[in-house]
Amino acid sequence: MDGEPAHLAATRSGYDAIAGQYAETFRAELEQAPLDRAVLAAFAELVRRAHPEAPVLEVGCGPGAVTAHLSALHLDVRGIDLSPAMVDLARQEHPDLGFEVGEMGRLDRRDGELAGLVSWYSLIHVPAPHRRSVLEEFHRVLRPGGYVLIAFQVGHDTLHLDEAFGRAVSLDFHRLQPDDVEALLDGAGFEPAARMVKAPEPSSAASQVPQCFVIARRPLGGAWAQE
Ligand SMILES: C[S@@+](CC[C@H](N)C(=O)[O-])C[C@H]1O[C@@H](n2cnc3c(N)ncnc32)[C@H](O)[C@@H]1O
Repeated sequence: MDGEPAHLAATRSGYDAIAGQYAETFRAELEQAPLDRAVLAAFAELVRRAHPEAPVLEVGCGPGAVTAHLSALHLDVRGIDLSPAMVDLARQEHPDLGFEVGEMGRLDRRDGELAGLVSWYSLIHVPAPHRRSVLEEFHRVLRPGGYVLIAFQVGHDTLHLDEAFGRAVSLDFHRLQPDDVEALLDGAGFEPAARMVKAPEPSSAASQVPQCFVIARRPLGGAWAQE
C-alpha cells in the first residue's frame, strides 16, 4: 500500500504466505492452554460487566480462533487482520462471525465505539517506534471503562524469520518486557488492571519463552462517567 511503513508490507506478505499452515498448526492451541483460557474468560467478564452487549474487536486475529473463543464467551466480537489470506481463512473457519482486513494502527472505528479490544500476539509485530501510537489508537476506539488485553512473548530480543513453514518470509517477532508494555499503556492513557506471566513450556514449540498477558482499562471520565 502507498506510503505505509515497511514493516506492514513485510508482515502482510509473510502471513499471506503461511496462513494455511499457521491455521493448521495453531488451530487447537487454546484447548491445550488453560491459563490462556482463564485470562480470556476474565477479560470477557470484565468487559461484559462494564459494557454489556457493546462491541469488541480482536486486532491481528489470524485464522480467528481467539475471536471465536471470545464469541463463545458471549462477547459481540469481530476480528481484523492485516493479511487478506488470514481474513479469508477466518471467514471460512468461522462463517458465523465477522472478519475484515484492517491495520491496528489505523482502526476503522469511531471514537469510543468499543467495549473491549484484544491484541493476541499481534502487537509483537509492531516495531518500537510505532508502538505508542498503536496503543493511542486502541485508547481512541475504546469507551471509558473499556478494556484492552495484550498477549506477547517476554524477552529483550527480536526473533527474525527468513523462512517459515518452508516459505520465504521476512517476519519480526518483537519480544517485550511487561513493565515496558504497561508503561506504554500508561503513556497512552490506560490504567492497569492485571498482569499474568506464564512460565515457558518446553513441550510447546510456540511457548519456549515466558508469555505475558496484560489487561488495562481506559479510565472512566467525562460524559461517559454519567452512565
Ligand atoms: C502471531 S499471529 C496471531 C494470530 C491470532 N491472534 C492467534 O493468536 O492465532 C499475528 C497476526 O497479527 C497480524 N498482524 C500483524 N501486524 C498487524 C497490524 N499492524 N494490523 C493488523 N494485523 C496485524 C498478522 O497478519 C497475523 O495474522
